[in-house]
Amino acid sequence: MPHLHIEKFKEITFPSEHDGVSFNFIADNINHNNEKLIAVTVEGDDFFLLLKEEENRSLLKSDKLTRPASIYNVHKALLAYAKKANLNVIASNVPEQEKNVHLEDVNALKNIEYFASSFTTDKELRVEVGFGSGRHLLHQAANNPEILFIGIEIHRPSIEQVLKQITIQKLDNLLVLDYDARLFMELIPSNIVGKIYVHFPVPWDKKPHRRVISTTFIEEARRVLKVGGQLELRTDSENYYAYSYETFIAFNKTTLYINKNKDIVISSKYEDRWKKMEKNIYDVTMINEEDSPILSLEGDFTFSKPNLSKTDLAKLHSQTKKFDGGFIHFERAYKIKDAVMLRISMGSFDRPEHLYLIVKDDSVEYFPSLPLKSKSNLLAHKFLDKVIHG
Ligand SMILES: C[S@@+](CC[C@H](N)C(=O)[O-])C[C@H]1O[C@@H](n2cnc3c(N)ncnc32)[C@H](O)[C@@H]1O
Repeated sequence: MPHLHIEKFKEITFPSEHDGVSFNFIADNINHNNEKLIAVTVEGDDFFLLLKEEENRSLLKSDKLTRPASIYNVHKALLAYAKKANLNVIASNVPEQEKNVHLEDVNALKNIEYFASSFTTDKELRVEVGFGSGRHLLHQAANNPEILFIGIEIHRPSIEQVLKQITIQKLDNLLVLDYDARLFMELIPSNIVGKIYVHFPVPWDKKPHRRVISTTFIEEARRVLKVGGQLELRTDSENYYAYSYETFIAFNKTTLYINKNKDIVISSKYEDRWKKMEKNIYDVTMINEEDSPILSLEGDFTFSKPNLSKTDLAKLHSQTKKFDGGFIHFERAYKIKDAVMLRISMGSFDRPEHLYLIVKDDSVEYFPSLPLKSKSNLLAHKFLDKVIHG
């Protein structure tokens, strides 16, 4: 995560510009006065820099929720702020001279909006969830040039490693997405995927709501898979296998194949480790046998005029409001000029989305971007509008 340790934070005038970076406004955390967010725009990318003020020094870094696709834009914004405010930088992991070739020049890295806004392809599509080192994904893409692969991962170093390999191997049939695969599944059209690989997912024995395999995930998998398409789960965890089997078999008209210690064409890093330890490996393959209706997402993310005062809004901090099928949690409240900004998580319990919301006297808007148009977000938005309406 790019960051600067600085001696003392100095505020600049907002809005202003430096080295091609626009500094739009600053937001002060109402409950923790050592935290601020700086809204920036770099090459059309809107995101926040996060400031944490400590006793002897401060930390300026990228904000996790709004980080742009290109890490280079974060580097640019951090360096431009430091110059503009004349900050004394004590330590930094941001290169002064750079262009991150692998993230900038590789066309393969797509953001979720790319898939959310009417993504289609004429090719057969295969998806790998949590590709880790990418050994399996890269092998599949290199050996099946006529098939389009989408690799989904949330671990940035793994993504960078795979992007590097895509450039080296000149692969043009592999797209990479840095996003929660469970949300991705809700957005893509029905009946277009040939295979979904879920190899060695984190078992999350103590936090089962974080598991990739769930009833909703299987529902979405059945929707996006073509007739004859397969979801392939491979795990070394007997517990996860048993849990998944039960979750799969609860579906009506389900065809499952179970295998133990089956060899597949390429073994992943994890698989090698478990094999060395002589652990069993379980496969559950689900075959989809039904055509699904097209994905229909009705509604939008507009708000009615708010009724709550700024003081009432700030008081929402830390509160959780539940509704049938999901929740909204008000994580943080910030003061900005003429408005209150809220950081919220919302949606369904096992795959919430985190967002910022700016509430002015007569308007409410998500910032810097709208939630993704998914069933659970549309439902949560309706409920949020009621809460903000008072
Ligand atoms: C145990 S590793 C297995 C990696 C790889 N499949 C292999 O077999 O070597 C699980 C991977 O899934 C990723 N992951 C976990 N939850 C995810 C999610 N919801 N969406 C996308 N990736 C996820 C993790 O970052 C991690 O790299």
